[in-house]
This record gives sequence, structure tokens and C-alpha cells, in this order.
Amino acid sequence: MARQRVFSGIQPTGNIHLGNYLGALRNWVALQADYDCIYCVVDLHAITVPQDPAAFLVERGNAAKVLLAMGVDPRRSLLYYQSRVPQHAELAWILSTIASTGQLNRMTQFKEKADKAGSNLGLYSYPVLMAADILLFRADAVPVGEDQKQHLELTRDLAERFNARFGEEFPLPEPIIPKTGARVMSLQDPTAKMSKSDPDPAGRVLILDDPATIRRRVKRAVTDSETEVRYDWEKKAGIANLMEVYSLFTGASMQQIEAEFGSGGYGRFKEAVAEAVVAGLAPFREAYDALDDAAVHRIMEEGAVAARDRAVPFMEGVFRRVGLSA
Ligand code: TYM
Repeated sequence: MARQRVFSGIQPTGNIHLGNYLGALRNWVALQADYDCIYCVVDLHAITVPQDPAAFLVERGNAAKVLLAMGVDPRRSLLYYQSRVPQHAELAWILSTIASTGQLNRMTQFKEKADKAGSNLGLYSYPVLMAADILLFRADAVPVGEDQKQHLELTRDLAERFNARFGEEFPLPEPIIPKTGARVMSLQDPTAKMSKSDPDPAGRVLILDDPATIRRRVKRAVTDSETEVRYDWEKKAGIANLMEVYSLFTGASMQQIEAEFGSGGYGRFKEAVAEAVVAGLAPFREAYDALDDAAVHRIMEEGAVAARDRAVPFMEGVFRRVGLSA
């Protein structure tokens, strides 16, 4: 039986953080063992908010390098920059002709971003491009964090609508969202998700942060005025967040963490969390330092060639269905 196909993407803006890793990238790496994996650095998505071109180019390269350092393996998976495969934009256009503006108006990420940054057409149609990314390769499954769930629903709706109107072309992709770590919260505000665009860097831990920075961020993480380490998102979101992080790096269950740290005070627990994160991220930093930029560039270009080879015949199929090709 042919292996099922996985597709996912990440924006190369700001640096990749713990939320990206625990919510999605950990799964990207793990799924390579069993799936045909296609991973994309979605630079076309990233320019829906203003970027400085020269800085953006550097950030994009660094993001690719982090993915490689974390274990995305170009011998097993496709990895490339979205803009190097024009079929993404082509399919997005076709899907935009069947996307309803009513549904796009309900996209919560658009509303949040438009409130902050002001709106533009690209930001508005961003979820349609995301649907095109996934459907272009007929992905069966999409590893993402919780915040992408609504975009996945739109993707499925567009696939269904296309299939109903033009004939069965796209499978309906399933999200792969982890039970723990699907929504890692800001270390400064446990009611908001950890985010690349948060102006306060103290809210996040970056994959490439040095050990001293990681220890400082975790130590200063906002918790509550109690002292008991207990897994309770309603009353103790800051602690619950740290417990999830600790659990993901050490394999300890929530019960084990409560038994070990329950009454020992937050200081001792935070130290253990910091050490677990430092140890867990150290191999990525080492691998990152060992990669050279020319090699990364070559890998990304080869990935784009291979992705285009697969995308072109897929688009031919779409063109025929829509009446753009005989
Ligand atoms: P992006 O670049 O914001 O984030 C990349 C991945 O990280 C997840 N994530 C989180 N998970 C847990 N806790 C958090 N605090 C956290 N913050 C981010 C995201 O859910 C995502 O899986 N629209 C997408 C990029 C995209 C895409 C796609 C994804 C474009 N096309 C096709 C999948 C398939 C985005 O902005 O992710």
C-alpha cells in the first residue's frame, strides 16, 4: 500500500520557538518514519505582513536551517521554499474562486492579525493559500498546533466543494494535533499563546536560545500566588503550561510531576523545567552550528525541483477538471 502523505508548513518570520516545536515540529520529525512527508517554509504566507526584504531573506534561510537541525531529513522528506514552487499560488487562485467570503470573514487568525497590523488582500486570502498548499499535494494528514484547526476545516470545506463541483480530485486532509503541547502558552501571559509576533521576547523560548536565556525565561515565567504544582488549566494556567513543557521533554506524566514536585514550591519545579528544556534543545543548537549556509541553500533548491516535479502533474489534473486544459 502506498504510504499516506503528510504536508505541513511554517512561516519563516521571527525565530522558531518552543510552541512551534512542541505543537508541530516534533511531529514533523516523527512522522518521517511512516509517511511520505512534504514540508514547506511558507515565505509567501509570511509576506502578508510587511517584511524588510534583506532581513527576510536571512530569516528565511535561518528558519530552513533550524528545521534541518531539528531533524527534518531531506533524504526522507521534501523541504523547500513555497515561493520556489509556483503551483501553490496557482492553485490558491483557483480555490479562491470557490471560497466564500462569508467563511473567510469568520477566520479568527485573520481578525486578530488585521486588528494588529491593518489588513490587506493577501492577509485575508491567507487561509486559501494554506488550503492550496495542502491540497496541491493531496495530503492525507497535516501536523499542526491547535491554532491552525480552523484553517484545516476551511481546507476540507474547499476540497469538498471542489470535488462536488468538478469531480473527486482531493482527499479530505485530517489534522494531526498533539494531545499535549497543542497550544503552548506565553511565559508572560498564560492566557495567550506563545507567539513569534509577541513584542515581548520574555514570553517565549526560542529553539536557538542559549542556556542562560532559557533558564532566565523559565524562572521568570508568570504563574500564580499559590505554591502547589498541580495540573489545572482553569486555575493554574501558568503552572499547567510548564507541566506540559516538562512532560514533553522528559516523558513524565502529569501525575508523576505532581507526585515529584507537588508541594516542593515553584522554584524547584521551574529549575527542573529549565534544565529539561536546556537539555532537550542542546542537540538542535549543536546541529544548527554545524550546518553551513551553502549546504542549506542547495538542499532547499533541490527540494524545490523535486516539489515542482510532483506539483506540475497534480496541477494538470486540476486544470482539466476546471476546463483550463483539454
Ligand atoms: P506558524 O508558522 O504560525 O506556526 C508553525 C506551526 O507551529 C504551530 N504553533 C504552535 N503550536 C503550539 N503552541 C503554540 N504556541 C504554537 N504557535 C505555533 C502552528 O500551529 C503551526 O503548526 N498558517 C501556518 C503555516 C502554514 C501551514 C500550511 C501549516 C501555511 N500553509 C499548510 C500547515 C499546512 C502558520 O502560520 O504556522
